[in-house]
Amino acid sequence: MIEFILNGKVVQTDDEPDTPLLWVVRDTFKLTGSKFGCGIAKCGACTMHIDGSAQQTCVLPITAVAGKTVTTIEGLGTPDNLHPLQQAWVEQGVPQCGYCQSGQIMSAASLLTDNPNPNEAQLEAAMERNICRCGCYPRIKQAILSVAEQGQSGAVQLATPVAAKAPEGIQS
Ligand code: FES
Ligand code: FES
Repeated sequence: MIEFILNGKVVQTDDEPDTPLLWVVRDTFKLTGSKFGCGIAKCGACTMHIDGSAQQTCVLPITAVAGKTVTTIEGLGTPDNLHPLQQAWVEQGVPQCGYCQSGQIMSAASLLTDNPNPNEAQLEAAMERNICRCGCYPRIKQAILSVAEQGQSGAVQLATPVAAKAPEGIQS
């Protein structure tokens, strides 16, 4: 039995210890916002926050998050209370197919927490592990910079993970 905090809720799982976190979150806890892209830690579609830092989770065994805090895109904001980055994504029409976007937003949120006012080089370095096959990079960059420029990074830093509505399988 492995226990961790998922979007503000204490959860437990009996999944095999070497099961990647991505699959535990998607299959056991039915939170499907985090995507499977490459499965070899090369695309960023599976990015979540582990204790506040962006990490790719497709090759991260569930044992690595025992006792830690995991935040997924479902815990970053809600439709009624969007995270500033999610609001910027909507306002600037960032996504095309959308598949990579939860990972992009989770990496961006981690970046702004660590560095509320990144320059372009710092932004590109922080986001280089997130691939967008639709080529939305200019809009992704603009959305992140707009949040930083509006001084909303403080909101990013202070954002408390919102507990996602508990799907079946979550034990609290
Ligand atoms: S699916 Fe995890 S990095 Fe591509
Ligand atoms: S929006 Fe399609 S892969 Fe990024």
